[in-house]
Amino acid sequence: MTTTSGATTPAARAAEDFLRTFHDRSPGLQSAGVEEALTRDGRTTYEVLAEHVPGARRVLDLGCADGALLELLAGRGAGVLAGIDLSEGELALARRRPALAGADLRRGRAQELPFADGSFDAVVSHMALMLMSDPDQVCAEAARVLVPGGALAVAVGGGPVPGEGVDLFLTLAVPHFEAAAPERRLPRLGDRRTRGREGLDALLGPLGFAPLSWRTVVIGMDGTPSEVWSALSSTYYDMEVLDEERTADLRAEFLGRAAALAGPDGRLPSGMRVTMGATRLQP
Ligand SMILES: C[S@@+](CC[C@H](N)C(=O)[O-])C[C@H]1O[C@@H](n2cnc3c(N)ncnc32)[C@H](O)[C@@H]1O
Repeated sequence: MTTTSGATTPAARAAEDFLRTFHDRSPGLQSAGVEEALTRDGRTTYEVLAEHVPGARRVLDLGCADGALLELLAGRGAGVLAGIDLSEGELALARRRPALAGADLRRGRAQELPFADGSFDAVVSHMALMLMSDPDQVCAEAARVLVPGGALAVAVGGGPVPGEGVDLFLTLAVPHFEAAAPERRLPRLGDRRTRGREGLDALLGPLGFAPLSWRTVVIGMDGTPSEVWSALSSTYYDMEVLDEERTADLRAEFLGRAAALAGPDGRLPSGMRVTMGATRLQP
């Protein structure tokens, strides 16, 4: 049965309603964070992911949000650009980008792509596939809209660098998230299979994709402890479950412990891993 949101189960509907509401309220937040958190060699993860679809002319971005990755791909020669996202607020920002004036930007679900078979050379998804319910269906749709030999490249979260700021934040925050009242808890987001190579290969192989190439990059969210706190507390979805008092407690715990990890310049190293998987649909 399909629900009013298009999602096929109550759990998927709850997850998508949460994501849509979050992104409608704070459009542009994700891309601003990505553009500040650079790899050790000074690149964004959009730039790293774009390397995996060299020369693609017709590109679809699943969970495109405000179109930052599509804009980058337009600058690298992609002439036919399309994106899909749950959030109209994010898409409104994407539509304001001059480079995306001719792009086909749709509000909708990656599980039900409104695009014709074989219409793209490349499908990309940056930090979004990992949040989607029913990834079997998302991957089947990606295979359907790709041409034979077409490229699929995804970036998913790979966890914090141990002993640094993001690790400290999560170590302190997870018990608070878990202690939240049941009515405030976040719906389950995504499917674990999309976060690792083995799970993704198991999803993609039967659809005709070659085994993934896989690489991990580290991005730095370094800053003063309060800058790191601001960046992390505004982007982690789970912060939504904390009331003001718990948020204040967590902030005090984080700032109290972070000072000891900061360097002589007062900056807290805060690395996070991002993993990139790339493959092609076998002709
Ligand atoms: C963490 S943000 C990443 C946005 C963008 N790819 C980036 O990295 O800047 C996840 C995005 O995926 C979108 N999203 C999540 N599930 C989706 C689905 N099933 N179909 C389409 N978009 C989805 C959300 O609305 C959100 O904009």
